Amino acid sequence: MTRTLVLGGTTEASTLALALADSGADAVFSYAGRTAKPVPQPLPMRVGGFGGVAGLLAYLRENDISHVVDATHPFATQMSRNALQACAQAGVAICAFERPAWQARVGDKWRHVPDMAGAVAALPEQAARVFLAIGKQNLAVFAAKPQHHYLLRLVDAPAADLPLPDCTVELARGPFDPAGDLALLRRHRITHIVAKNAGGAGAAAKLTAARGLGLPIVMIDRPGLPARRMLGTLAEVLAWLSHVSDA
Ligand SMILES: NC(=O)c1ccc[n+]([C@@H]2O[C@H](COP(=O)([O-])OP(=O)(O)OC[C@H]3O[C@@H](n4cnc5c(N)ncnc54)[C@H](OP(=O)(O)O)[C@@H]3O)[C@@H](O)[C@H]2O)c1
Repeated sequence: MTRTLVLGGTTEASTLALALADSGADAVFSYAGRTAKPVPQPLPMRVGGFGGVAGLLAYLRENDISHVVDATHPFATQMSRNALQACAQAGVAICAFERPAWQARVGDKWRHVPDMAGAVAALPEQAARVFLAIGKQNLAVFAAKPQHHYLLRLVDAPAADLPLPDCTVELARGPFDPAGDLALLRRHRITHIVAKNAGGAGAAAKLTAARGLGLPIVMIDRPGLPARRMLGTLAEVLAWLSHVSDA
């Protein structure tokens, strides 16, 4: 019997949840619980961390999970590492369902950096207006360049003071569209963008908008993970789930 745990938080995870629910599959959807109101899923849901590798291992065993689809964000590396370890220990099959990284196109002014520290270093010394399109984590490192005005786009209003002396918060939940992002960049007179190479369509609107305005983007490349089974389409994931012997 196949019982699938979907590690969510992405459009891919939601797409998979819909397909599994439609086919009547036995599956559970897991959210980290980072947002106040997670998007409801058509599968039984659980919310919150498992408690590291040991907690996830216990969860897999207690819930008779046979397959894990790691459809977390490409930058959610801790969860992905934990899932690989726990599945190896439990003998549970695992695949990653991940969208391809964005590639620069003609007209793009990208500067690639390996991490957040690299992104801070890549910002100019003179005061600029920066769209920090990186979510709510990792903001503190940008306090090292307090001369900039930072625009943040967050799902929920911040619960605590932000670590940046000069910033504006826009509350919004993706997917976004290029016309809306163009208007956003113009409204805030943005001169630079910092983005994680998330891939996918919904978050790519800012790239299109930046191209239109000729704005530079500091692109944080994806972090590395151990070798794992990578599947890029819903059809591949469903085929993998239906061929238990391939596990
Ligand atoms: N990082 C990003 O840029 C980004 C962007 C968009 C969406 N997200 C989504 O937001 C969530 C958190 O991302 P993150 O970068 O903070 O993750 P992370 O650093 O890889 O994970 C930190 C811890 O959060 C818990 N966790 C993460 N994803 C979980 C899930 N789907 N279900 C249950 N627990 C989960 C785990 O806690 P325990 O160790 O206690 O199990 C994990 O060790 C993920 O689901 C991710 O898909 C992340």
